[in-house]
Amino acid sequence: MKACIYNKYGPPNVVSIGKIEQPIPTENQVLVKVFASTVNRTDAGFRSAEYVISRLFSGLFYPKNKVLGSEFSGEIVAKGKNVIDFEIGDKVFGFDDKNFGSHAEFKTIDATECIAKIPQDIDLEEAAAIYEGSHYALCDIRAAKVERGQKVLVNGATGAIGSAAVQLLRYFGAEVTAVCDTKNISLVESLGANEVLDYTKVDFTQLKQEFDFVFDAVGKSSFSKCKKILKPNGIYISTELGTKGSNVYLALFTPWFSRKKVLFPIPYSNKEDILFLKKLVEEGHFKPVIDRTYKMDDIVEAYEYIETGMKTGNVILRIG
Ligand SMILES: NC(=O)c1ccc[n+]([C@@H]2O[C@H](COP(=O)([O-])OP(=O)(O)OC[C@H]3O[C@@H](n4cnc5c(N)ncnc54)[C@H](OP(=O)(O)O)[C@@H]3O)[C@@H](O)[C@H]2O)c1
Repeated sequence: MKACIYNKYGPPNVVSIGKIEQPIPTENQVLVKVFASTVNRTDAGFRSAEYVISRLFSGLFYPKNKVLGSEFSGEIVAKGKNVIDFEIGDKVFGFDDKNFGSHAEFKTIDATECIAKIPQDIDLEEAAAIYEGSHYALCDIRAAKVERGQKVLVNGATGAIGSAAVQLLRYFGAEVTAVCDTKNISLVESLGANEVLDYTKVDFTQLKQEFDFVFDAVGKSSFSKCKKILKPNGIYISTELGTKGSNVYLALFTPWFSRKKVLFPIPYSNKEDILFLKKLVEEGHFKPVIDRTYKMDDIVEAYEYIETGMKTGNVILRIG
């Protein structure tokens, strides 16, 4: 089968199109004919191995799995004998950041893992972009224990994580102030933000208001700068490690020494969350933001684009 293959860590051009053997499902797995995937920051992080810690999971010197692609949508074309939740012909979407493999024509995954039938009234391309950003957002919102009526600031409200965070926070009843560039103000308003700040005009860290939760979904701020806009028991979470991993150290120490805390939750993915997100899509509470679509052959260009750090929402990779 055709796949986007990488044999070493590095910049986008370590990935090339080639042929590998089509996977065969085990008795607990389904075989998905992939229609679309995304090219996202998770794929880019593992490909570049910029944070050496990722190599503990993906292989110390060389990548163990030669095909990236954490998100997928497509059709089930074969299944193992123990699989009862899916039938051949089902249209599905899912996420796999352990084995990846969605930047290929076929992918296998355990039926009990993060895979579900696509929501009603949504096409396969859109379905491919439901999970990655929103599960990071969900994990961080849960860690911050956001309650109805709380005031939350989201910086980077136009990324895959930020655009999902705004919608999920509104679903959970928070009052959301979102920060983005001038060109994205109307998009972020349409996601449900109560107030939208243009970062080319306003430095949100100098606001007079205080927030229960400051969520830097693009990792451009720091706890020290955001401290003064946090309420006395406020929470700060960033999606980046921070300078010299500061967000990790602060997450260890601030819960002991400060009422204002930094958290650094470890994201996890599971069946319950994908079914929850599917429900939110069906009920109209969440819609993935899609920036543009690349053909599989243009994988290097797609990586180069997302690594500008300026994509809006999600970038689709069309496989099928
Ligand atoms: N470690 C991991 O595995 C992992 C996985 C996923 C994500 N992440 C991290 O999470 C972050 C977000 O990823 P993502 O995929 O959601 O989005 P992304 O592609 O990194 O975010 C792009 C968005 O950030 C906004 N932005 C750029 N500079 C900004 C600034 N100075 N202030 C506010 N917004 C700014 C841009 O919107 P405007 O046009 O409005 O500026 C753009 O839409 C990244 O830092 C990424 O590395 C890490």
